[in-house]
Amino acid sequence: MLSVKRILVTGGGGFLGSHLCEKLLSKGHEVLCADNFFCGNKNNIIHLYGSPRFEVIRHDVTFPLYVEVDEIYNLACPASPVHYQRDPVQTLKTSVHGAINMLGLAKRVRAKILQTSTSEVYGDPAVHPQRENYWGNVNPIGIRSCYDEGKRAAECLFADYHRQHGLRVKIARLFNSYGPRMHPNDGRVVSNFIIQALTGKNLTVYGDGSQTRSFCYVDDTIDGLIALMDKTDDGFIGPMNLGNPTEFTILELANLVIEMTGSKSKIEFRDLPQDDPARRKPDISLAAELLKWNPSIALIDGLQATIRHLKGVIES
Ligand SMILES: NC(=O)c1ccc[n+]([C@@H]2O[C@H](COP(=O)([O-])OP(=O)(O)OC[C@H]3O[C@@H](n4cnc5c(N)ncnc54)[C@H](O)[C@@H]3O)[C@@H](O)[C@H]2O)c1
Repeated sequence: MLSVKRILVTGGGGFLGSHLCEKLLSKGHEVLCADNFFCGNKNNIIHLYGSPRFEVIRHDVTFPLYVEVDEIYNLACPASPVHYQRDPVQTLKTSVHGAINMLGLAKRVRAKILQTSTSEVYGDPAVHPQRENYWGNVNPIGIRSCYDEGKRAAECLFADYHRQHGLRVKIARLFNSYGPRMHPNDGRVVSNFIIQALTGKNLTVYGDGSQTRSFCYVDDTIDGLIALMDKTDDGFIGPMNLGNPTEFTILELANLVIEMTGSKSKIEFRDLPQDDPARRKPDISLAAELLKWNPSIALIDGLQATIRHLKGVIES
């Protein structure tokens, strides 16, 4: 029998957060979404407003929050370079002060808390694929550092609150996720290519396009997050990689998007930005073993749903 929980989702107005709120509601839980809408959008959650089990508060996690909840999913953080580089100091504060505030709240109300960390903690990895025990290769003072180092510090805080205060914490390291409700112009590669293809612009590939990424469809990501949160409290805190290990070069992705949209767009090569990692691929054996989790949605199917969504955004 399901026990109904009161669950706080910070960053619930964003891409992943909105899907998470939706999924948790569909499971019968009460959901409180806290977002300052720095880069989220109310349209992502407007369809949930009718539910009496759903509430939204405009709140910046760099300030304390006093609510009574059983679980906290801490997603609040600008996640794309365009957004996190717009105000790097606020990005770092969101990761660090946000983690301290949400951990403080979890400690006060004895809630279980999950942090959405990122594959960016591996930086430009010197080992491939990346396992959780790899410590990373991160530039501490570069233009991506506000995000990468902020997330690393947040992981440290989660681990220390667990060790020092016995808090029940979980750390998920998410690799690139994509799907409907991605921001249409925040520069993330999947949405970028689709929008460029749908509007007849050239697809901008940075470097020679041989750098690889792995893309996990949003439904798979959300299932993984919930499975990690729901895992029996046996002291396991993570970190745990969640992502799709099937690797594609950026050039392959660009060609696939052109083909699937039937676009006449061409590919345009640009200089590689600073600290752009050459390869990214998760080793997900830990998630497969402990959660029996494996992504199940193929890139072609996920892209179809994402293209449909972004077509709607352009038309509206
Ligand atoms: N999408 C991915 O591929 C991916 C990969 C790795 C990690 N993540 C992590 O998952 C989380 C969600 O990512 P997303 O893709 O949904 O990003 P997103 O930008 O769509 O959502 C982030 C949300 O957090 C909110 N936010 C930002 N700063 C805040 C603050 N100070 N207080 C309250 N709310 C704030 C934004 O308004 C937005 O709604 C982020 O923490 C991100 O680092 C995402």
